[in-house]
Amino acid sequence: MDKFIIEGGTPLNGTINISGSKNAALPIIAASLLGDSETTITNIPRLQDIYTFNNVLRVVGAKVDFQDKKNTLIIDPTNVSHLEAPYDLVRKMRASFYMLGALVGKHGYAKVSLPGGCAWGPRPVDLHLKGMEAMGIDIDLDKGYVIAKADKNLKKSSFKLEPSSVGATVNLLLASVLRTEEFTIENAAMEPDVVQLCNVLVKMGADISGIGTDRITVRGVESLSGVEIANDPDRIEVGTFMIAGVLHPDSELTLEGCNVDHLGNLPELLSKTGAKVEVDGSTIKVKAPKELEAVSVATEVYPGFPTDMQAQWATMMTQANGVSTVTDTVYYDRFSYVPELTRLGADMRLEKNTVTIFGKTDFEGASVMSTDLRASVSLVLAAMVAENETEVLRVYHLDRGYENLEHKLNAVGAKIKRVDE
Ligand code: UD1
Repeated sequence: MDKFIIEGGTPLNGTINISGSKNAALPIIAASLLGDSETTITNIPRLQDIYTFNNVLRVVGAKVDFQDKKNTLIIDPTNVSHLEAPYDLVRKMRASFYMLGALVGKHGYAKVSLPGGCAWGPRPVDLHLKGMEAMGIDIDLDKGYVIAKADKNLKKSSFKLEPSSVGATVNLLLASVLRTEEFTIENAAMEPDVVQLCNVLVKMGADISGIGTDRITVRGVESLSGVEIANDPDRIEVGTFMIAGVLHPDSELTLEGCNVDHLGNLPELLSKTGAKVEVDGSTIKVKAPKELEAVSVATEVYPGFPTDMQAQWATMMTQANGVSTVTDTVYYDRFSYVPELTRLGADMRLEKNTVTIFGKTDFEGASVMSTDLRASVSLVLAAMVAENETEVLRVYHLDRGYENLEHKLNAVGAKIKRVDE
């Protein structure tokens, strides 16, 4: 198992190129299974979660290959015949559950393992299943598996997501585009990942209206074809590096290949800390202030502040002067990074779904443990401003979601070494 040894206290200066988005890639890779021919997707990040999902696709019979050593993925779904996604693959990554919508949508049958536990609390899939039942799909549970069966031309229906859910919106879109007369998702997720999926499905031949709103209507079509498409840049990677660029008072970073429209209120909130944020097309420049000011945030569904950024924001607030709070209204117990930051010296108090941060703390290097993807990156951010050496254990969490993290950060001045634990 790999760990990072990070020597802190160095400012970051230079340019970082943003990778393709993992969370946006997974739904469109699943969508490729709905086509009658090959799909080619550029800008797919080389990440463990993508490799896991590619393996799930291979298990059902799809041909999936990266082109050379690049970020272009080619998926040929024409030989899919084994309509089962097994537990040992689905448990590794929740998004494998997208196979349910993709397989039942295209083939009228799917047997997919329930995703099981997760590092940050219960993450149910009840809305995915209730939504499919509302669509007219038969759902049975058998020994930890969901078995879905669907006719063609399911009758006109609708389903309201409460709460709004990215995963359920994706699964319901995948299940409906080839199956229903008409299906409406109320309170649909409006995240860029969902918008990209809708746009790709339309390019494949689907009939979808209300794209980008919270009311999406699908009218079923006979067939879909493979397409050539480019995956969106990773908005969470952008946000993470924006924060990396303001933690040390002498840092200044340029981020290339961003989609600023996907960042919601993040640039505005970051400016409130005193940081300078400049946007020029797909380039964002961030410059650290002499002293960061405390700014409280609460997560919300898009376009609100993303839950995937709250650990990084709370880490930044340990370096700001004053008291701030970070509240997660989407996932209530996503705070496993708090005790780890405390080991570096942070003064934080957690109560229910709000952490109060008393800044500023001068961190002192220690050993800390990654517990999930975004918690791990927040430990890397903290370690880069801590005195002396910090050891971040179990960085496999990071490898699930950040492409070349240590190489990108080392190229702009960080001192991160990967070693075998
Ligand atoms: C996706 C992202 C994840 C992000 C999250 C919220 C991927 C692979 N993962 O996860 O990084 O943090 O969106 O932006 O894209 N819920 C239910 N029942 C359900 C489904 C969800 O109650 O059937 C609840 C969840 O417990 C949570 C809320 O809905 O409170 C939102 O979850 P959801 O949007 O579904 O998250 P994911 O799609 O799993």
